[in-house]
Amino acid sequence: MSEDKKNILVETEEDTILNISLRPKTLKEFVGQTETIENLKICLRAAKERREPLEHILLSGPPGLGKTSLAHIISHEMGTKITVTSGPAIERAGDLIGILTNLARGDILFIDEIHRLSKAVEEFLYPAMEGFQIDFIIDKGPYARTIRFNLKPFTLVGATTRTGLLSAPLRGRFGILYHLDFYREEDLKKIIKNSAKALGVQIEDRAAEEISKRSRGSPRIANRLLRRVRDYAQVDRQNLITVESVEKALDNLGIDSAGLDEVDRKVLKVILESFGGGPVGIESLAATLNEEPDNIIDTVEPYLLKVGFLKRTPRGRQLTEMAYNYFEINRNS
Ligand SMILES: Nc1ncnc2c1ncn2[C@@H]1O[C@H](COP(=O)(O)OP(=O)(O)O)[C@@H](O)[C@H]1O
Ligand SMILES: [Mg+2]
Repeated sequence: MSEDKKNILVETEEDTILNISLRPKTLKEFVGQTETIENLKICLRAAKERREPLEHILLSGPPGLGKTSLAHIISHEMGTKITVTSGPAIERAGDLIGILTNLARGDILFIDEIHRLSKAVEEFLYPAMEGFQIDFIIDKGPYARTIRFNLKPFTLVGATTRTGLLSAPLRGRFGILYHLDFYREEDLKKIIKNSAKALGVQIEDRAAEEISKRSRGSPRIANRLLRRVRDYAQVDRQNLITVESVEKALDNLGIDSAGLDEVDRKVLKVILESFGGGPVGIESLAATLNEEPDNIIDTVEPYLLKVGFLKRTPRGRQLTEMAYNYFEINRNS
């Protein structure tokens, strides 16, 4: 794999910084996901009118679709503070005591990758979510005592790529559940144009459209491709990003006209060549690809399912007619 192609798949430090600067900060700046946003607006307004904290909110959906952005927007719209942590970062229940006791009324506690909380931490959270209380035990053996803390009513916003991995009791403690779906091309186009403006680059309408088609339905990828295309245009001394420059840059980066990247193609190819087109279980697929099953399940598979290159069967994932056409192979020949 060339350096360029690697770049497109791996989030660089610059990507992370630019991601934060391109992150929508208000509901107004948040493009797409209309149904979810309309619903959220009602919840926000009702909570504000009642002068109550929001109910706990669970955001789910593939990476890069705006879960973290939304968590920040919610705190911005409520005018309250946000504390950010993540499932893997909270090793022991004790790690949460300081965080929880520091929350003011209505504050947001954002737990990213909430499906990765340990069982003990999860159970510690239940009474905090439900009655805004925590119990913890000090000392051991006969001297052990339980100390109860009352917390201020706060809002827990959890984000997960997979609700399926959340335990039922945890899921049940969220009052509001939103699932973010892949973005429509028109929405991605709007996001790309906004980002171009923020980055101070000029882009043709058709060029923005071409990037939106190749962004796998994800604003994060759309922004990343825009930045790469901008680099190419800059090196070519072009002031305006044209559709030709987009095609050239994205072809060079290994993003094909169907919007599939290197990893997508590798996955499809392995199913075709090593598993006769499937069905194949995700574990064997991941092992053959030498990839983490989670990476395939979270980032690769949902998009391939969505665009119809893959289908789920009881015995595993299978290529579709469309995938065969993609490889210009006729199944009957
Ligand atoms: N609805 C949106 N409108 C505009 N930009 C968005 C939107 N959703 C996401 N983005 C862009 O995509 C990037 C990734 O979003 P993020 O909230 O980090 O996704 P997630 O937490 O779901 O992985 C953000 O930095 C932002 O630039
Ligand atoms: Mg996130």
